[in-house]
Amino acid sequence: MKTTKGKVISNKCIKGKYYHLVIKCSPLAEEIKEGQILHIRCGSNEDPFLRRPFSVYRFHKENGEIEVVYIVKGKGTEIMTGFKSGDEIDLLGPTGNGYSLNESAKGIIIIGRGVGIASVISLAEKARKKYIKVIAVLSGKTKESILGEEFLNSIGCTVYSIQDEDGTSSMDNLKNILDKHINTDNINQMFTCGSNRVGKLLRDISLRYKIESYISLEEKMACGIGVCLACVCKTKDGYKTVCNHGPVFSTEEVSFDE
Ligand SMILES: Cc1cc2nc3c(=O)[nH]c(=O)nc-3n(C[C@H](O)[C@H](O)[C@H](O)COP(=O)(O)OP(=O)(O)OC[C@H]3O[C@@H](n4cnc5c(N)ncnc54)[C@H](O)[C@@H]3O)c2cc1C
Ligand code: FES
Repeated sequence: MKTTKGKVISNKCIKGKYYHLVIKCSPLAEEIKEGQILHIRCGSNEDPFLRRPFSVYRFHKENGEIEVVYIVKGKGTEIMTGFKSGDEIDLLGPTGNGYSLNESAKGIIIIGRGVGIASVISLAEKARKKYIKVIAVLSGKTKESILGEEFLNSIGCTVYSIQDEDGTSSMDNLKNILDKHINTDNINQMFTCGSNRVGKLLRDISLRYKIESYISLEEKMACGIGVCLACVCKTKDGYKTVCNHGPVFSTEEVSFDE
């Protein structure tokens, strides 16, 4: 993990407030793994001072490209929408642990909520390359807020798109989907990002079925390297930093607010 420079290849609005950024940085693409974090300096000067943390959406060791999907939230991401092809940008990463796929798994379930979907896409891609069955549940407030559906279908995942606007994202419906696939598809691991409620549900299901499950946590970050303690989360073993010890934790380890 180190600071480095990347070159913007493209930066386009894909829908609503979602942008797709492609950066070329071969050493980073070589090092990064699924679920790790990339911290991007948004402005060319020091305002905003702090780099912003993003999940790696996809990465390509063969050509050194890294893809990030971001939603415009505040000052930093607003400035990022102005990145142009050829711009040089300042990066820190990769940081954090990332996802650990059991490569002899028969099947896995991934669940992404909102922009949290970005974090689990490359994991699904890795699993499919190893012919592991992937059940992908993509959840959002509206159909518009759901990412990656087409890509996951194209690589042979079984995809569910569930939304708040029609009630399909209820915990009961999600639980029914999970129960159905766990009972029929030899599921060995489950992963989620973007919702602590889903994390809690996975923890309960994990205990019942004795299946490992993991959550990638989101906390506001500052230094990004485990020093400032801005991003701590409560675990069964005390407080841990999300940027450094995480962002991926076993759902049994996390102390969710009950
Ligand atoms: C591990 C991790 C992975 C993430 N992956 C993605 C991703 O793939 N795509 C995406 O769109 N967003 C992602 N986020 C959220 C993203 O970092 C924030 O939306 C972004 O920092 C907002 O910056 P801003 O300047 O536009 O907003 P502001 O609200 O102006 O940001 C102010 C400060 O708060 C921090 N901050 C604000 N919201 C968040 C947040 N939700 N999480 C962490 N820090 C925050 C910023 O870093 C900054 O220091 C991720 C966050 C974390 C922690
Ligand atoms: S952001 Fe500073 S310790 Fe995590």
